[in-house]
Amino acid sequence: MEIIRSVDQMRRRSAEFRDAGSVVALVPTMGALHEGHLSLVRLAGELADVVVVSVFVNPTQFGPSEDFERYPRDLDEDARLAADAGADVVFAPEAREVYPAGFETVVHVQKLTRKMCGAFRPGHFEGVTTVVAKLLNVVRPNVAVFGQKDGQQAAVIERMAADLDMGVEIVRGPTVREPDGLAMSSRNAYLSPEERKDALVLHEALEYAEQLYRCGESDAALLLDGMRTLIGSVKGAEIQYVAAVDAKTLEDVPELGPGVMFALAVVIGKTRLIDNVVLGERKRGEEAGGSHDDG
Ligand code: PAF
Repeated sequence: MEIIRSVDQMRRRSAEFRDAGSVVALVPTMGALHEGHLSLVRLAGELADVVVVSVFVNPTQFGPSEDFERYPRDLDEDARLAADAGADVVFAPEAREVYPAGFETVVHVQKLTRKMCGAFRPGHFEGVTTVVAKLLNVVRPNVAVFGQKDGQQAAVIERMAADLDMGVEIVRGPTVREPDGLAMSSRNAYLSPEERKDALVLHEALEYAEQLYRCGESDAALLLDGMRTLIGSVKGAEIQYVAAVDAKTLEDVPELGPGVMFALAVVIGKTRLIDNVVLGERKRGEEAGGSHDDG
């Protein structure tokens, strides 16, 4: 596996892959790779001949009081894990290459970034879309793979790629969870043992909503209330938002159905965690047990 540190070299190598007729996939990451990322690398390997994993802790998507400085960094370990998962190239550019002196352009997706995480992290999505647009321009992949765990980010990037005719297919890979349900995240490492237990409430709230939906409940507001109550019962948990939205358009939905995403952001101690679940079709017979509409 190759490690490429320069933008020019990455551009040249990608052109060679394309000239050889290879389908190229990009998996953008900020490193600190865990099983969630590695599942995306493996998915990329099923979709393409060549898999490029970018590792870049992007300063522009962190707010001034966020964890940019202490975000975990270990390129050697990331490269080893990426290679084991089937990556062909790790692209790890220096910040000065990504943002050279005089850099002043941003990519801004207007509406989708206003709510949910965007409301609590001003400028965050501009940082994400700008760096992802740059990575896509350098690597020029046929397909780029993002985690469903960052559901709003995936929707924003899909919008950007479509609006700017980027000619890349954006694929969402499923969320990978610890055995007890906690969604894998590089930020889980910040949690103390006590906070780690409290953090389970994110998944519990999503499971509660999904199960009631499966039993026939369709009233989003009712389930959002129940989720807030459940999370509120954990002393160390502070809700930023709990939402029921269309997974693609991020419009709020009053009525639940397939494609609706329950999404939440909760601060546990000092660590902000996000998670979501996208509802599927209700299977025949699952409604038995009754919706509150029936009664
Ligand atoms: O999801 C992430 O890790 C980052 O937001 C991304 C997409 C790599 C952009 O820096």
